[in-house]
Amino acid sequence: MQLTPQQLEQFDRDGYLFFPGQFTREEIKSLTDEVPRLYAQHRPENVREKHSGAVRTNFAAHLYSEPFARLARHPRMVKPVEQLFGEKLYMHQFKINGKNAFDGDVWQWHQDYGTWLNDDLMPSPRAMNVAIFLDDVDQYNGPLMFIPGSHKLGVLQAGHDTTTTSYPLWTINNENIRTLVEKAGGRNGGIVTPTGPAGSMMLFHSCLVHASGSNLSPWPRVSVYLSLCAVSNHIRRFKRPEWIAHRDFTPIECLPDDCLVRPYPVALPWAQGTPESAAQTSEAPLAEVA
Ligand code: SIN
Ligand code: MN
Repeated sequence: MQLTPQQLEQFDRDGYLFFPGQFTREEIKSLTDEVPRLYAQHRPENVREKHSGAVRTNFAAHLYSEPFARLARHPRMVKPVEQLFGEKLYMHQFKINGKNAFDGDVWQWHQDYGTWLNDDLMPSPRAMNVAIFLDDVDQYNGPLMFIPGSHKLGVLQAGHDTTTTSYPLWTINNENIRTLVEKAGGRNGGIVTPTGPAGSMMLFHSCLVHASGSNLSPWPRVSVYLSLCAVSNHIRRFKRPEWIAHRDFTPIECLPDDCLVRPYPVALPWAQGTPESAAQTSEAPLAEVA
């Protein structure tokens, strides 16, 4: 799949692209069938909501789940980002966000690159998210909100929020969000929420400001996020566990386009459990470690 000149222009202007119904129901089923088994596991890759204990996010399933290992090599997700960066990619982060019915909690306003820079010392924003919806997403079940064009502002001032939710994040304060939304058009397009059927895909710049509200609806909103980083832009510090910020910078080789419905073999290095080394972290930048 190649992005058209018009899509490239749109991405440059808005900081995101939305592809409704990019994957079929049959393709998505191979993934949704696997989620309950992953969420039921007691392993450090499952981060649970503070109050309900429901899984908020599952990390690194591409290293221990076959369907997700195939998704991590899917050309419809990987090729557009390769095209945008003109370079091979590695998986910086892989997550399956639960946003469970009734108790899926908020994600505060943030830029992903803020966290990748501050925590992981990723040199530049040559990394981005590609997400797919495993459930239908509408106005009720906590859709992701973007501030179009906000990626043009580079890294914005952020504070490390370790208390609001069960997952620490570098977040942007309300006054700055108010200004950004006003500048982006206020009530006329200052916030957009791509919604659509399960199988829809979003691609967004790592400096695009985004957030999502809680899910008080009876419908789950499970989405998968691949954070793909240009290989030359790999992180320079292992301050976070490996299941949150990967340390294997091997370029991704795509599988054929039908890989979600045909059983192509994939390696599952963490199938027997998380390696002990993955939990080891260091404040020191890589050059000092070497
Ligand atoms: C994220 O910002 O990484 C996830 C937000 C969401 O799933 O709502
Ligand atoms: Mn994010």
